[in-house]
Amino acid sequence: MHLPNYKEARSFDKKDYQVRTFQLDPVYQNKFQGKTCYLKTYGCQMNEHDSENIKAILEEMGFTFIERYQDADLILLNTCSIRENAHNKAFGMLGRIKHLKESRPSILVGMCGCMAQEEVVTNKILKDYPWMNFVIGTHNFYDLPRVLCQSLDTNSLQVEVYSREQDFVEDMPVDRVSHYKAYVNIIYGCDKFCTYCIVPYTRGRQRSRKKEDILKEVVDLKKEGYLEVTLLGQNVNAYGKDLYDDYSMAELLEDVAKTGIPRIRFMTSHPWDFSDKMIEVIAKYPNIMPSIHLPVQSGSNAILKKMGRRYTREEYLTLFHKMKEQIPHCVISTDIIVGFPGETEEDFKDTLSLVQECRYDNAFSFIYSKRVGTPAEKLKDDVTKKEKEKRLYQLNDELNQFFLENNQKLVGKVLMVLAEGKSPKKKDQYFGYSETNKLVNFKSNQEVTGKIVPVLIEDAKTWSLDGTLCE
Ligand code: 5AD
Ligand code: SF4
Repeated sequence: MHLPNYKEARSFDKKDYQVRTFQLDPVYQNKFQGKTCYLKTYGCQMNEHDSENIKAILEEMGFTFIERYQDADLILLNTCSIRENAHNKAFGMLGRIKHLKESRPSILVGMCGCMAQEEVVTNKILKDYPWMNFVIGTHNFYDLPRVLCQSLDTNSLQVEVYSREQDFVEDMPVDRVSHYKAYVNIIYGCDKFCTYCIVPYTRGRQRSRKKEDILKEVVDLKKEGYLEVTLLGQNVNAYGKDLYDDYSMAELLEDVAKTGIPRIRFMTSHPWDFSDKMIEVIAKYPNIMPSIHLPVQSGSNAILKKMGRRYTREEYLTLFHKMKEQIPHCVISTDIIVGFPGETEEDFKDTLSLVQECRYDNAFSFIYSKRVGTPAEKLKDDVTKKEKEKRLYQLNDELNQFFLENNQKLVGKVLMVLAEGKSPKKKDQYFGYSETNKLVNFKSNQEVTGKIVPVLIEDAKTWSLDGTLCE
């Protein structure tokens, strides 16, 4: 039994991480032949990608995957901690599973992902959910076969969560959701410790994967026919800082571009680490997509300071405009939190005026959610729920106008679209994403799935574009 401990998670001692290769112990190979698994993923791309690894490990153990949890022999929830509603969804699901387990006690029920790393969550599970079979953390999910079997052998709840990062495990099996687009981890964890954010506790300290391993993965993906990679990390711009003296995100992006893979994206970027060299490289290589996610969080200097974001509104805007000027056709999206403790009407107006200046192409907006164990938890929160909801509504109203306005400018233009599949509803209708990450629904009487094709844009909506394949 290993339980999470935030004090340990917060500690700053530098560690040299070893690299190991994943190998499934032959005793687990096909041990569960004929058994079924329901895997539910909550949260971000990092979790989605972990689930691609988890699925492949379970497949090697013999599991097949099904869509209905009611019929599964193993139910695994890959959870997210970022906001209260992610918690509520997972606990709501556990409530439903409890009833199922009462009628079918043989089903195995496990939790992995970010919630597993939270002290409050594991304590609650030990107290109120003793009928569960296992909980495994983000740092050791590759150990799932052992933990799962241990819970079966001992017929007891196993909690195996490490607060500190473990060694890198390379060559993990992976069952990717898409055959055209792939996630590639480049950096794990985060050292920024924004005051509202749980991620440094659930995902650990910042540590970069070796450049050789990343480049090999991209080259292999290209050979397999993948057309797009998304370089993943909580803060990709910090890539290399913990590992190299003279190799950073800019150099990595350039080396990935030189592999010739047709499309490269990356997320997420903290404005603090976005270097001029990165802007130069993005502008220089046409296979690095001109679409950048640059979370601002707030337009008020007072709130940015309380959030521990390390930049001012003015610094953010300078960076924003530099990108727009230097990267051809650059499209920028963002994340914004409203109702942070102490946010006044004036502070909120500053966020609105920043949005009016940036006229974002896309944005994710959230009401602040208090996370246990973060520094912001201690701040007095004097903004009422009603006021927070009003601000979110007002902000979204503003944002949506700009999404539509930007999309309307594309009508009549031809965009290159990576077609991902056919629309389930309409005949001869496909969907895919443009270089600037716009969702495009388009007509085509040729089969274009898995190809990058030119599409004439004919209509614009707030969140998507409509068009026709150019013959
Ligand atoms: N409350 C609300 N939103 C949050 N985010 C992160 N932590 C919180 C929180 N405690 C948002 C930020 C981040 C995005 C992934 O989620 O905007 O960029
Ligand atoms: Fe959620 Fe953050 Fe964990 Fe992703 S890393 S699953 S956003 S808490």
